[in-house]
Amino acid sequence: MARRAVIQSVGHAVPDKVLTNHDIEKLVDTSDDWIRQRTGIVERRVCSPGETTSTLAAAAGKQALERAGLDPMDLQMVIVGTVTGDMLFPSTACLVQEIIGAKRAGAFDVGAACAGFIYSLQIAASMVENGAIGNALVIGADALTNIIDWTDRGTCVLFGDGAGAVVLKAEQNTDRGLINTGLYADGAGGKYINIEVGGTLHPACDPNSAKFRNTVFMAGAEVYRFAVNAMGDACCRVLEMSRMEPSDIDLFVPHQANLRIIESAATRLGIPPEKVFVNVQKYGNTSGGSIPIALCEAVEEGRLKPGMIVMTVGFGAGVVWGANLIRW
Ligand code: ACO
Repeated sequence: MARRAVIQSVGHAVPDKVLTNHDIEKLVDTSDDWIRQRTGIVERRVCSPGETTSTLAAAAGKQALERAGLDPMDLQMVIVGTVTGDMLFPSTACLVQEIIGAKRAGAFDVGAACAGFIYSLQIAASMVENGAIGNALVIGADALTNIIDWTDRGTCVLFGDGAGAVVLKAEQNTDRGLINTGLYADGAGGKYINIEVGGTLHPACDPNSAKFRNTVFMAGAEVYRFAVNAMGDACCRVLEMSRMEPSDIDLFVPHQANLRIIESAATRLGIPPEKVFVNVQKYGNTSGGSIPIALCEAVEEGRLKPGMIVMTVGFGAGVVWGANLIRW
């Protein structure tokens, strides 16, 4: 049998600080009712001073390594899916490599916003399966609340901070592992969700950059329409390449951006609510952290067990979207 990349363990970390919808009512003209009805979100976690994407990512990574019984010194690769790195460079993966003491591992980031974990998992699995590496720590992590405009009610109610991680390891004689992945992008959609300042186009150090946005801009309705199509589209394409039906899915773990988007994707696929994992009410949209946090909680709650078929799907800034079909 071929060499497979099998998920050995999961971990996650979120900040202790909780920000409820009622807390946000004090910041902008919104209401707990509006946020619950339009998004399903009740509260989210936000970083305190000193907490960053790398500290959350490292905490999630450490937990996954401990649960896998893997010594950090034996780890061969650290991959972090993030668009809110601590700095432009070094990569957040390098910061994590240092914090967890994975001295012998390579490290790099993957920039695919809320689909960052989906892209990262496929890259890591390909590297494990083709023999380039024997194991990898794959993390999705973001701390978007640091770069949100807290006077913009259209965005500030949506996001939270957090990280999730998995340890992947090569195994023979198993049918567990990634079954198929679809990774998609449409750069024309970059105008719908972006941050203008901070890169090389409008550098933070350039006084002319003051004219441009240094917080998240999002055209909510356009992103909503794209998301509903993208989720269903990615799942259908990956099921088709796997010659499987939606009824083969044991657990559906979609990107946790908005309950209405999750429900419409599940309805389109005909997946019943008991097979859909939802925790958006607790964390809001944690971007790259969203899917691995959900996978971790699904395992902890006993809803995800070895051998089950799990479909993960996500979409985000870029615009990008994709899905991983996994035999857990
Ligand atoms: N509280 C109260 N009213 C609000 C709020 C708020 N927080 N936000 C917007 N509104 C108002 C609008 O101003 C608008 O008022 P108007 O009709 O007087 O102009 C009204 O509510 C309806 O606005 P819509 O934008 O049509 O509301 P919608 O039902 O589409 O919900 C939402 C908005 C929740 C942002 C939705 O569009 C959405 O979820 N979009 C997708 C967002 C998303 O998933 N982003 C993640 C991208 S992933 C990444 O890479 C980071």
